[in-house]
Amino acid sequence: MLVLEAKDITKIYGNKRGGMQVKALDKFSISIEEGEFVGVMGPSGSGKTTLLNILATIDTSSTGELLINKTNPAQLSEKKAALFRRKELGFIFQDFNLLDSLSIQENIILPLVLDKVGVKEIEKRLQDIAEVLNIKEILSKKPYEVSGGQQQRAACARALIHNPSIILADEPTGNLDSKASQDVMDALRSLNEEKKATIMMVTHDPFAASFCKRIIMIKDGRYSLEIVNGGKRQVFFKEIIDSLSMLGGNYNDLA
Ligand SMILES: Nc1ncnc2c1ncn2[C@@H]1O[C@H](COP(=O)(O)OP(=O)(O)OP(=O)(O)O)[C@@H](O)[C@H]1O
Ligand SMILES: [Mg+2]
Repeated sequence: MLVLEAKDITKIYGNKRGGMQVKALDKFSISIEEGEFVGVMGPSGSGKTTLLNILATIDTSSTGELLINKTNPAQLSEKKAALFRRKELGFIFQDFNLLDSLSIQENIILPLVLDKVGVKEIEKRLQDIAEVLNIKEILSKKPYEVSGGQQQRAACARALIHNPSIILADEPTGNLDSKASQDVMDALRSLNEEKKATIMMVTHDPFAASFCKRIIMIKDGRYSLEIVNGGKRQVFFKEIIDSLSMLGGNYNDLA
């Protein structure tokens, strides 16, 4: 089943009267099937954040059509769109976005508490996901008492606990060292493989990207090329490096 379909998305920033206009996305299309783990990569300024904001229904495109779970969020009222976002989407940010006044556990279950899910069901889902992400020992701690990698794994749990149609991750390893990056990417892979989570991740980092099953390269706001993980992460990593250096931009120095 198709979870997300974006067709010919064009985004133009700036006003028509005098101001400079920037075409950040140019007829960009992407389709994501249920259960996929897709990465989006591209040089700085290529339109990755713009794309993510549009898919997250935080921003709207100038032209083009977006369907998430068969619904076009742009056609919903503001109130319904907010509800749609909360129900259908899960978010993981570069800076974790956990609330310091709450425990790790309280942070994770917050989406369920907001949705008035029963206590027993909340406890069941919490224990289940904490097991998969290996964060059982830190559930009662505060975010500032645990490592960055642990905080991000808690954020991964929070992103999935309400069973969204798709998780959108923006540079989830951007603030982490290589060991913590590995832990977080292992966690995302577990969510994808064991919990059947559908994930789309934007990243600069070829190592993080090598955990994805498919990577779409974007350049100057346009779809550029796509590579598929054949099953060996090290081989895929090399293919990613090769594709990025072919793409040019700020990736030239990786070659
Ligand atoms: N709010 C805005 N107003 C005007 N131009 C913008 C705005 N946001 C982004 N842009 C421009 O749109 C283009 C795409 O920007 P975007 O932030 O999507 O790139 P990116 O791929 O996320 O880059 P990076 O890897 O550096 O985060 C750039 O030329 C940028 O300057
Ligand atoms: Mg960006």
